[in-house]
Amino acid sequence: MKKQWWHRTVGYQIYPKSFQDTNGDGIGDLQGVIRRLDKIAALGANVIWLCPVFPSPMVDNGYDVSDYMDIDPCFGSMEDMKELIAKAKEKGIRILMDLVANHSSDQHEWFQKALRDPYGKYGNYYVFREGRAGGPPNNWRSIFGGSAWEKVPGRENLYYLHLFTKQQPDLNWENPELREEICRIIREWMELGLGGFRLDAISHLKKNYDYEDLPADGPDGLCLAFDHINNVKGLSDFLLELKEKAFAPSDALTIGEYDNMKPEDVEAVIGENGSFSSVFDFSHTHHNVYYPEWNGDTLGMFNDYRDKLFEAQKVVDGRGLLCNFLENHDKNRCIDRFLAKEDRNPHSIRMLPVTNFFLPGIVFLYQGQEIGMRDFPKKSMDEYVDAPTHAEYEEFLKKGLTPEEALFRINSNSREHSRTPMQWDGSENAGFTTGTPWFAVNPNYTWLNYEAQEKDPDSLLHFYRKLVSVRRRPDLEETFIYGRLIPRLQDRSGILAYERRDERNRILVVTSALSEEMRLPLAEADATEALMNESELLLDNYETAPLFEKGELTLRPWECLVIRLGGKERGTD
Ligand code: GLC
Ligand code: CA
Repeated sequence: MKKQWWHRTVGYQIYPKSFQDTNGDGIGDLQGVIRRLDKIAALGANVIWLCPVFPSPMVDNGYDVSDYMDIDPCFGSMEDMKELIAKAKEKGIRILMDLVANHSSDQHEWFQKALRDPYGKYGNYYVFREGRAGGPPNNWRSIFGGSAWEKVPGRENLYYLHLFTKQQPDLNWENPELREEICRIIREWMELGLGGFRLDAISHLKKNYDYEDLPADGPDGLCLAFDHINNVKGLSDFLLELKEKAFAPSDALTIGEYDNMKPEDVEAVIGENGSFSSVFDFSHTHHNVYYPEWNGDTLGMFNDYRDKLFEAQKVVDGRGLLCNFLENHDKNRCIDRFLAKEDRNPHSIRMLPVTNFFLPGIVFLYQGQEIGMRDFPKKSMDEYVDAPTHAEYEEFLKKGLTPEEALFRINSNSREHSRTPMQWDGSENAGFTTGTPWFAVNPNYTWLNYEAQEKDPDSLLHFYRKLVSVRRRPDLEETFIYGRLIPRLQDRSGILAYERRDERNRILVVTSALSEEMRLPLAEADATEALMNESELLLDNYETAPLFEKGELTLRPWECLVIRLGGKERGTD
């Protein structure tokens, strides 16, 4: 694999609205990010992905852009953005913005013009279609619920497409003029010194416009037509054009929100000449210990999670780098998601990030993950703001769940949990704002906050700092990025283990989701006692040394270990 600057990425994702407010309006802002850059640098991150900060009516918190070339006043100004890029650079941190190019806001000037003249220039920037039999053009369901078609106000029989909310009309990528315009926008941003972009909903750009209704997949008679709206044949032509015209000239890091990559697509998507630098690995995002399929069974879920992780790596098979993460702004917190109530303890919450942090690829952490921020379940749906969360609740009711059951499901999976304000200290509103926060702070901030953990060398925050420093240690970093992956002990329930190997190092990563001790003969971990004896313990979550004895390793409950194996055998197969 040809080496690239971004292969060393240890990223930190910021949801600006909830990160740090500096002017008391209750909304996080760019000056807030600047104020906290030191903390991000102390964690060891070298890339920041900033969720959208463009002008927006905020129907989807900025994922509905009304002007691609400016900053929303609630976040600050272009000057603030330039200052952030410059100050981050001084700390060796590059900024990625979030390109929301599948759709714009309905308030974007393009769409407003399009509504006035659907058959004119800007009409062709969007997807307008005539309805059928008094209804929409077909029965596609929007990803956020309801029909994917909205009637154009004041027109007899005309509809526009929106795969997300109706305030997010889809852009027409079949139109070369639109594509050119997006490329120009990207180039202008890149000229300001950005590191690159995260590419929102990018696998949806191409649609298969099939007017036939599809078999309904729900009581609403609609169909979430993924094979018509996701990764449709021809998508890569658009993506390659973007890459050539917009990203390649400035050597940008591009990470696609791109699910379900097939083995035959790997080269085209993330190969050396692929469309993106990397794509997020979503193999774990359907895992939640409180989903009906797991019903509180941490172990069953963990085993499946392990298998999916290794499967994804097998698909890629060294042909590119996935982006490994556990949390983002679309998922609830990993402690609540992966661990049943009785399984949450200081060991298990440290073990979680180790499961995928040392896999081949680049890595991303999400704001608050480093201090173990938690979900904040609500007593009533009124306390949720997010429209799709409300839509999901309605879907649950339609499927026959009682209001209590539906609220339980929302409380155990809403993406809005990850959007509670960052908990900086124990002062009022967790040091996030001096005003009224736009979304309620989790009351646990009095004890769960950044400042308290910074003072405590045994805190989760210090564990995360260690995690990053191990991964970035100059003599190990290349092994973690490019070394071979050898899954270990895959038949052992509750154990997720792997080795990373190259000519310089042999590193063994072992994690346990078992609440009892487990004896592992060392040979099974493919490490002889001699290797172990001369090894270096890089990271673990117990205060006392690992239990090696007589050719056996006794793994303690929820233990995780990262060991550089010593001895002459290093580098051999
Ligand atoms: C992506 C974003 C999500 C947003 C959606 C629509 O999935 O991550 O937050 O709601 O796209 O833009
Ligand atoms: Ca503010």
